[in-house]
Amino acid sequence: MAKVNLKGAFITFEGPEGCGKSTQAKLLYERLKKLKYPVIFIREPGTTIVGEKIRSILLDKNNKLTDKTEMLLYMAARSQIVDEVIAPALKAGQIIICDRFLDATICYQGYAGGINLSLIMQIGEFVTNKITPDLTILLDIPVEVGLRKCRVKIFDRMEAKPVIYHQKVRQGYLALAKQDPGRIKVVKVESKIKDTQEKVLKIVKQKLWLG
Ligand code: TMP
Repeated sequence: MAKVNLKGAFITFEGPEGCGKSTQAKLLYERLKKLKYPVIFIREPGTTIVGEKIRSILLDKNNKLTDKTEMLLYMAARSQIVDEVIAPALKAGQIIICDRFLDATICYQGYAGGINLSLIMQIGEFVTNKITPDLTILLDIPVEVGLRKCRVKIFDRMEAKPVIYHQKVRQGYLALAKQDPGRIKVVKVESKIKDTQEKVLKIVKQKLWLG
């Protein structure tokens, strides 16, 4: 893998529940770290102290959140991670691998939750300072298959939403990929983690590295 002169890069992983994006994001992180790239791995919501606290509120099944509160909490966590981690890391020329970002709010709270998409985009622009990923890997998996994978543990508040909700999330992601094919690359999840990883690496090489 030959390096090009990168001034930081922002790579996000997205997808419906159980698509394996956290695994794939971490594998890419380990790979780039081994190759001595200046890379960090972060997740949304979370990573910052405040973000992790917001994450627990969002995923706790005992919390009855309104749709607006839910959306704003995701945005609040994002605002914190952008200012505290993402913007400084990009400025320092680092490669950021982020497990979910604004696309998730568009698909979960927007396409599936019914909140106005242009409102989400507007608040999104405000909290991200218009920072957008250079590359988004969308790991696509049929909803039933993904949810079955999650069933090995107890569902959290988001996973416990009805199947139709998760179907809308997936449709949302595929619609976004159609709108922005230059940034969002759809990767069909394979049964073997390694096979999916190969596809991801190929895209990363093509998009961000020569050779
Ligand atoms: P995770 O599964 O990627 O760890 O994300 C936690 C949950 O939060 C997952 O069910 C997706 C959901 N989510 C949203 O609904 N909106 C968002 O903006 C983000 C970042 C995640």
